[in-house]
Amino acid sequence: MNRAPETLRSPPTLSRILLAWLLAPLFVLLVVSGFLTYRYAAHLAETERDLALEEVTDDVKDDVIAELKSKGSIDPGSLTLHLLLSDNRDHRYFAVYDDSGVLLGGDPRLPRGQTSPGNTERALFSTIALGDDALRLATMKGDEDAIPGYEILVAETMTRRNHLALRLSRAVLIPQALVILLAIPLVLYGIRRGLRPIDMLRNTITRRSPQELNDLSSSGTPRELLPVVAALNGLLLRVRTAQEEQRRFTTDAAHQIKTPLASLKAEIDLALSDPAHACAQPVLQRLGADANRLAHLVQQLLALAHTEAQGRSGLTLLDLTELAKEITEAFLPIADAHHIDLGFDGPEHTIPIRGNAVLLREAMKNLVDNALKFTPDGGTVTVSVDDTPPGFSVADSGPGIPQEERAHVLQRFHRSHDSAAIEGSGLGLAIVQQVALSHTANLHVGESALGGALFSLTFEDRAAGQS
Ligand SMILES: Nc1ncnc2c1ncn2[C@@H]1O[C@H](COP(=O)(O)OP(=O)(O)OP(=O)(O)O)[C@@H](O)[C@H]1O
Ligand SMILES: [Mg+2]
Repeated sequence: MNRAPETLRSPPTLSRILLAWLLAPLFVLLVVSGFLTYRYAAHLAETERDLALEEVTDDVKDDVIAELKSKGSIDPGSLTLHLLLSDNRDHRYFAVYDDSGVLLGGDPRLPRGQTSPGNTERALFSTIALGDDALRLATMKGDEDAIPGYEILVAETMTRRNHLALRLSRAVLIPQALVILLAIPLVLYGIRRGLRPIDMLRNTITRRSPQELNDLSSSGTPRELLPVVAALNGLLLRVRTAQEEQRRFTTDAAHQIKTPLASLKAEIDLALSDPAHACAQPVLQRLGADANRLAHLVQQLLALAHTEAQGRSGLTLLDLTELAKEITEAFLPIADAHHIDLGFDGPEHTIPIRGNAVLLREAMKNLVDNALKFTPDGGTVTVSVDDTPPGFSVADSGPGIPQEERAHVLQRFHRSHDSAAIEGSGLGLAIVQQVALSHTANLHVGESALGGALFSLTFEDRAAGQS
């Protein structure tokens, strides 16, 4: 038989383990209780039935003495004896001996000698075997004129006793078993309630975005989970530190490159304006373009590092309409240069949101820059703002972004093949997404009514935008 590898088997749930550990002792207790209950019930049944057997023995004694007095002999088939000994469930046997041990009547298989000498009132009881049957034997001894030193023995099979013991045991055990069965859902409910803090901790962790690396709160956390929360917070601190170091490295590296790059560009510009280098003009122009691309890359790297470092800090109340108008106006010269109809569409009133103006400007700039860059000359680009829910979008009449590529364009350094001829470092949309994350806003990539691409950034709602 093929056994599933250890890793493929689904691990047991904590509630099941707890349930098993709680119910196992209960079942053991039920078995022990069953055993003890049956023993006690058997004892009760024996005491009860012994009393009844003693009464029968006493009646048999009275009948036998009366017969001996009146007839001088015992008729084992007499009606009275028959009635006394008959029972619809058990078989009864009797025997009468005189003081010399002579059987005066009854069944000779019943053994004598069970009574203490001189006991005339009470019967003594013992359990004997008769053939395959176990019998309860009552022996009563007395002294009468008719039979001096008589010994009356009455025995009965144990069907009634066993039934009574079983009935008594069942009466106790069935309710006990039902209580345990009823306890299963209740215990399970209790366990689930008890484990709720674990679910809450899990939900808190899964709801977090990759950027939310602040400590988990330990308020309301049960003491057993505090070490787990502390360990997770330790891990979060290490991740934060590592991220911070990586960010600082990127920023430092970008800054380190910036200064020599600026002097390189200045040198190239100087050489380009020097007639002595006329024959090197094409090479110098290519070098100048490369230097510009490099400067743009450094600029984008710095912007991305800055966006990541800001996170949710620096949020202030600002007007989305004003911000979008400002960016649109800033790009008008570039749009004019390419005969692109760059327009603004939105309400005249303010749309207040809580946001980081520097980051939102950066996001809008990248989106408008993309729209103007990828839309052929003579096209249309529209910047829109919306009130409910608050948000802004940039639509263009360019080539658009194929459905299958929309998830990838947000990745760092991703550039589609079609845009290879257009300059860019592939970081603009990564910056926009980072800004969306730091504002808990939703970034949507789709198709615009103008036929090209549509990028929209929507804040969950006005309240969330203002939180
Ligand atoms: N408006 C658009 N229309 C068509 N394609 C676009 C549009 N915006 C982005 N893209 C595609 O997504 C890719 C990634 O865009 P992104 O802004 O991240 O990089 P980039 O513009 O190439 O470089 P950078 O923004 O860093 O200068 C682009 O190279 C382009 O292929
Ligand atoms: Mg871009």
